[in-house]
Amino acid sequence: MIESMKIIVTKSDLQSVSADLLVLPFSSIELKTEAGKALAEAGFDIQVLNDFKAEAGEIVVLYGGRTEYCAARIALLGIGEGKTIDDWRKAAVSFASKAVDLKIEKIAVDCSGLEALAAATGQPVETLVAALVEGCCTGSYRFDRLKSGKLDKKSAGEKSKGIAELLLRVDSGVYEEAEKGASDGKIIASCQKMARDMVNLPGNHLHAGDIAKAAVDSGKKYGYEVTVFHKKEIESLGMGGLLAVNKGSHHPPTFTVLDYKPKGKVKAVIALVGKGVTFDSGGISLKPSENMGEMKSDMSGAASVLGAVEAAARLGLPLHVIGLIPATDNMPGSKAQQPGDVITTYSGITVEVGNTDAEGRLILADALSYATEKYKTDVVVDVATLTGACIVSLGYAVAGLFCNNDKLADEIYQAGQQSGEKVWRMPLWDLYGEQIKSDVADVNNTGGRGAGSVTAAKFLEKFIDGHKNWAHIDIAGPSFIPKASGKVNGGTGFGVALLVELLKKWS
Ligand code: BES
Ligand code: MN
Ligand code: ZN
Repeated sequence: MIESMKIIVTKSDLQSVSADLLVLPFSSIELKTEAGKALAEAGFDIQVLNDFKAEAGEIVVLYGGRTEYCAARIALLGIGEGKTIDDWRKAAVSFASKAVDLKIEKIAVDCSGLEALAAATGQPVETLVAALVEGCCTGSYRFDRLKSGKLDKKSAGEKSKGIAELLLRVDSGVYEEAEKGASDGKIIASCQKMARDMVNLPGNHLHAGDIAKAAVDSGKKYGYEVTVFHKKEIESLGMGGLLAVNKGSHHPPTFTVLDYKPKGKVKAVIALVGKGVTFDSGGISLKPSENMGEMKSDMSGAASVLGAVEAAARLGLPLHVIGLIPATDNMPGSKAQQPGDVITTYSGITVEVGNTDAEGRLILADALSYATEKYKTDVVVDVATLTGACIVSLGYAVAGLFCNNDKLADEIYQAGQQSGEKVWRMPLWDLYGEQIKSDVADVNNTGGRGAGSVTAAKFLEKFIDGHKNWAHIDIAGPSFIPKASGKVNGGTGFGVALLVELLKKWS
């Protein structure tokens, strides 16, 4: 859908373009003056301003204005006080979602106020336009590829076509900047969409091999190297964590290494590690059946790493970015690993498997050790739907950040604020290490009741071989929004924008 969305940045007068919907953004501050004038000019009843308060994302659609206007419908779009990029992004998500619901295919947005917005938010025009495009793609996203329409002929025609054309009208002074923002925004949005699709695909449609294949396809298309290790090679490498989790599965595991090198100078070497559990039943330590289906999203970390590496390649960032994706499902069965088992990981460190549902850390252990052993990296970041405890702490909007370097932690925090994918730092104090001590092995994969997301991070820390610049991002909450929460359901692609923002910072 996003690939086919045509984005046009134009300096032309709004009267001279044509669209199905014209979006007029207003801040609550400018509402009193400009909105009244614009509406009166367009021939609308300004009584609507008694209702419209320009809260971020608020929309009123008006019909029947003057015929010479470029669109039959006009949407008043609230951008809050017009002071934050978050409100601006929220507004973009909102009008795009509305447009898809109304089956509107051609949208024009009056971005004449961009310079003023840039001054008020302290954000460059380029960033604002990129955020607008990303928000628009987020809002227009629908996952309906698995609907056949067989049972409901009417709804077959209702499969979302998405937005065909997005036209942004900007002042000539900011045209170049806006063009750059639109093209970067489109790339990031397309990588987010890929990640979201993968997260939303259920376990029977996405196995470890499919994640590897998606990476291979992306590498071919955008010119970076991808190596897939299959079961035999994973055995030769001695990746005991990944193999143990895979024991109950009918589908072989994969370990995929994505390797993007820029044409010119390399400013930094970055390893990104993503948890790729295509379905997490818990294994023999079986999860309760309620909502277990949501565990199709347990490969969200892998999806965001794939999305971020692809984005780095398409944006041509001057970084060497290595993506490492261990992938398998986690199933029970007579061949599955058992609680109490002791396994030997890639590093040689032995692990007592206190709970087979703490599988993410087992596969990440191998990938992290591989990353630190094989590459001389400046930074290692892993992204994983690692613990339910992290959702308890921070909810569905914010990811947990665990980091052994204050400067890196601050950079990731800032990237979160900027990208809208927020993180909050949690401690990695050694006192938490007590909880994962084992009587029979080097370490236990479970740490008991308290501080579940911290003990998980402490476990991972053992496998980075003392790397001084490591971060673990627990995205269990924001990667997938369950139905109950009432927002856009399903996979979010969380992590792509955050990682790309970070990579751009280092570029
Ligand atoms: N994939 C889950 C974590 C998760 C839970 C992600 C809910 C998204 C939503 C992970 O593998 C898991 O099962 N963690 C256990 C760890 C425990 C057994 C120590 C958990 O959080 O309960
Ligand atoms: Mn689990
Ligand atoms: Zn899991």
